[in-house]
Amino acid sequence: MPLVPLRVLLDHAAENNYGVAALNVNNMEQIQAIMMAAQETDSPVIIQASRGARAYSNDAYLRHLMLAAVELNPTIPIVMHLDHGNSAETCSSAIAQNFTSVMMDGSLSADGKTPSSYEYNVEVTKAVVAEAHAKGISVEGEIGALGGIEDGHGAGLSEEEAQEHLTDPVQAEQFVGDTNVDALAVAIGTSHGAYKFKKKPTGDVLRMELIEDIHKRLPNTHLVMHGSSSVPQELQDIINQYGGKITQTYGVPVDEIKRGIKNGVRKINVDTDNRLAITGAIRKVFVETPEAFDPRAYMKPAREAMKEVCKARMIAFGQAGFAGKIPLKTCSEMVDFYK
Ligand code: G3H
Ligand code: 13P
Ligand code: ZN
Repeated sequence: MPLVPLRVLLDHAAENNYGVAALNVNNMEQIQAIMMAAQETDSPVIIQASRGARAYSNDAYLRHLMLAAVELNPTIPIVMHLDHGNSAETCSSAIAQNFTSVMMDGSLSADGKTPSSYEYNVEVTKAVVAEAHAKGISVEGEIGALGGIEDGHGAGLSEEEAQEHLTDPVQAEQFVGDTNVDALAVAIGTSHGAYKFKKKPTGDVLRMELIEDIHKRLPNTHLVMHGSSSVPQELQDIINQYGGKITQTYGVPVDEIKRGIKNGVRKINVDTDNRLAITGAIRKVFVETPEAFDPRAYMKPAREAMKEVCKARMIAFGQAGFAGKIPLKTCSEMVDFYK
């Protein structure tokens, strides 16, 4: 089965009340970890690559690795999604590279940092929807903007700035009407990276009620939660136990994500948890076997650790068991759907 469009998976998820993890990749082992987890849980999968991932791995490697995933896993529907496209050009180049779904993140300007105007967001997202839908490719848009402090290096909005750019449900409704996106990312207080919350989040910082309001206004729109790593304590502990330095932090509890899934969340973006799992596993090998230097000695446990995180999320979000049950459509078959 070829790579499938996001819309096909999310329509099925909505009809059957489950969510699908959207997992970021930069290399072969991460793709393998996701596919192993999908096989073991019989899950459909969304694999996503950011601009940074495309630059790191090169589109040609990514394209062929994804084709290998398809060839080796014929029973698993796989979406290849562009995470946080910053411009129409970036989305076009992803489409040219076999991506079956793109995110046009017009909530930020093309620099990927500065919050943009509503008018800019609509204009650029509409342009991407026109190009993508003509080819049957799905589009995710974003309204409101997330924070993203990575390891204190300050990429993206601070926690305080992010609280000022939460999604306005009225504007969300207008945005979907103006753009016809397939999926809508909303800002509800989460941020990218490990440092989301200084204590276990309560409703004043993780604003799940916004999701409920948006879902009531847009019952037929698939909602997307970004910054949805749970940053488990045990993954922080493994890193620190083996010489790492992760300052105590808190992510998005899986139970809150489940609450989102009950209220229209269909795509849940998770990257950081897998990064933590990989790093912890590699650190452990380095500390326990300092004489090892074959990369397989640490990449194999790293891949295994990521697989376990992916499996846990696939089961928790409810996508497990659905791989073979989705009525599939290719991008070409979706062209008529959008006419
Ligand atoms: O959007 C955030 C994802 O975790 C991707 O991160 O841009 O460092 O590849 P990245
Ligand atoms: P995390 O940093 O919480 O894993 O979020 C990833 C994400 O939203 C990718 O778009
Ligand atoms: Zn994101």
